[in-house]
Amino acid sequence: MKNELTRLFIDQFQVSPDVIVRSPGRVNIIGEHADYNNGFVLPAAIDKAAYIALSLREDDEIHLTAVDLKENFSTTIHHLKPIGDVSWPNYILGGAAQFIKKKISLKGFNLLLTSNVPIGAGLSSSAAVECATVFALNHLLKTGFSRIEMVNMAQKAEHEYAGVMCGIMDQFASMMGKASQVIKLDCRSLDYQYVPFKLDGIKILLLNTNVKHSLASSEYNTRREECEKAIKLIKPHHPSVESLRDVTMEMLDQYVLPADELVYRRSRFVIDEMERLNDACNYLEQNDIASLGECMFETHEGLSKQYEVSCKELDFLVDYVKDNPEVLGARMMGGGFGGCTINLVQEDAIARLVSEIKPAYEAAMNLPLDFYIASIENGTEIM
Ligand code: GLA
Repeated sequence: MKNELTRLFIDQFQVSPDVIVRSPGRVNIIGEHADYNNGFVLPAAIDKAAYIALSLREDDEIHLTAVDLKENFSTTIHHLKPIGDVSWPNYILGGAAQFIKKKISLKGFNLLLTSNVPIGAGLSSSAAVECATVFALNHLLKTGFSRIEMVNMAQKAEHEYAGVMCGIMDQFASMMGKASQVIKLDCRSLDYQYVPFKLDGIKILLLNTNVKHSLASSEYNTRREECEKAIKLIKPHHPSVESLRDVTMEMLDQYVLPADELVYRRSRFVIDEMERLNDACNYLEQNDIASLGECMFETHEGLSKQYEVSCKELDFLVDYVKDNPEVLGARMMGGGFGGCTINLVQEDAIARLVSEIKPAYEAAMNLPLDFYIASIENGTEIM
């Protein structure tokens, strides 16, 4: 990969790259739509990653090439702004813009991007590019930001240049991942703990619906607003409540249910999910993967019926494996409205499962089904 990228870079820019950075996509075992509600999440970096090669320039020009898409984009550091159609340059420009906001004198740069994180699959392909960009610039500009600072910068890139008010999970997982470990992250304090994820004879199987419904980002922002609405209803009575993390079922019953049934349903899911994550972490510690898997099925049910961020394609895939004893747990993953389901499957059953579910899905949905066996790898790093 390194040699290939160097060759492509020289072909494109007639200079050698100063640095090559790999930054992975992520999975999340459980704790969905919990990050922006200050709850806990349980993500991990995976073996699919974005790779960028970068060299600084003496002028103020920025030249970007996306190898896989065969697209180029150029601008200057004085004209940094989000480009209309949210597309790949935004993740890079948004990352670079964070340095300017921190009053660092940014230089122009050449950047070449390639990625094998499938786009729109709920595996955080955009966070991978944001983290890679921020990490590479931090290294070359010698700005010395910590990994946590860079996580925050990468998240801001998504907010400001992609317009998605995402939580912290994706960028955190990409930047902070560790091989064979999941990260138990407290999204309020950003305290985190690595938890070994070695499942004997069980693998993480991702099933990609190959759909990304267009309402994904607008509905995501709407869910955030619905959760904030619950806080507005409760806060006058409990001034110390800052997020759904501080809210009890009693508070919901008392102040939210009478005022707004929809907001009640959304908030209930989040509070249930926070409790489920707790249980799931205990099961993981006790190596009780069957019970952990049960929690994942329950999460899916909640995401589909209460939080309403699933879709018929995701529901089909989870329903299909529900009664299969070789599948310990399954659910939709990430923001929703398409992308992948995450499945914990007995290793020796994967080939059989895929050979059955693929034609069934393709016949029912008239869409191709892709699958990946994900392994848990290190976060952002220089190659
Ligand atoms: C997307 C966001 C994350 C998180 C998940 C849902 O992946 O980028 O911050 O909110 O959805 O858990």
